[in-house]
Amino acid sequence: MKVVLASKNPHKLVEISQITEKFGFQLVLQSELGVDIDVEETGTTFEENSLQKAMAVMRATGLPALADDSGIAVDALNGEPGVYSARYGFDESLDDWGRLQLLLKNTEQVPDGQRQAQFVCVITFVTPEGEVIQARGEIHGELTREPRGENGFGYDPIFYYPPFGKTTAEVSSEMKHQVSHRGNALRVLREKLKEAGYADK
Ligand code: IMP
Repeated sequence: MKVVLASKNPHKLVEISQITEKFGFQLVLQSELGVDIDVEETGTTFEENSLQKAMAVMRATGLPALADDSGIAVDALNGEPGVYSARYGFDESLDDWGRLQLLLKNTEQVPDGQRQAQFVCVITFVTPEGEVIQARGEIHGELTREPRGENGFGYDPIFYYPPFGKTTAEVSSEMKHQVSHRGNALRVLREKLKEAGYADK
């Protein structure tokens, strides 16, 4: 089945395809189909934003669509930046590194032992026939005080995962994927798609 991924990011395509190709989805990027829409994420939950993106791309292409929405939620900041992780600080001049530094600064006063944080990912599958399937994955860790590691992206260098004894930027992408929010969401999605009859493996 041809399924369009609501993203322009080839890295996401590779990561998500690794799982979805196993059950016969032929995943294509929206940009490969000439769809150049930037969906405004107006929701306040990962579920809402991921659904908005999947619906918009499904409507624009007439094909079943997959979308993900993800971010980091810090306990001591009442779950911030959460759905605003990619826009944290609301300062256009900030890049991933700038946002990471801002998060470190805003948690400077948070003592050790109270620096718990989660990466969250919600993946949504929708079809033109009205099927909606959502899967959520999380990974629980702690914020470091300084960036460590060269792998990954975004907030990985300051996300310490205790079972590894390392940040998620200090491990390979394969190792991260085995425990990550996105990996976990994809594994849940796979089970739900099987139950709904979209995948048999
Ligand atoms: P999205 O592309 O709208 O889902 O934005 C997600 C944002 O959350 C990214 O810009 C990253 O800053 C952050 N994020 C999500 N997943 C990860 C991850 O696996 N590692 C590091 N940062 C992440």
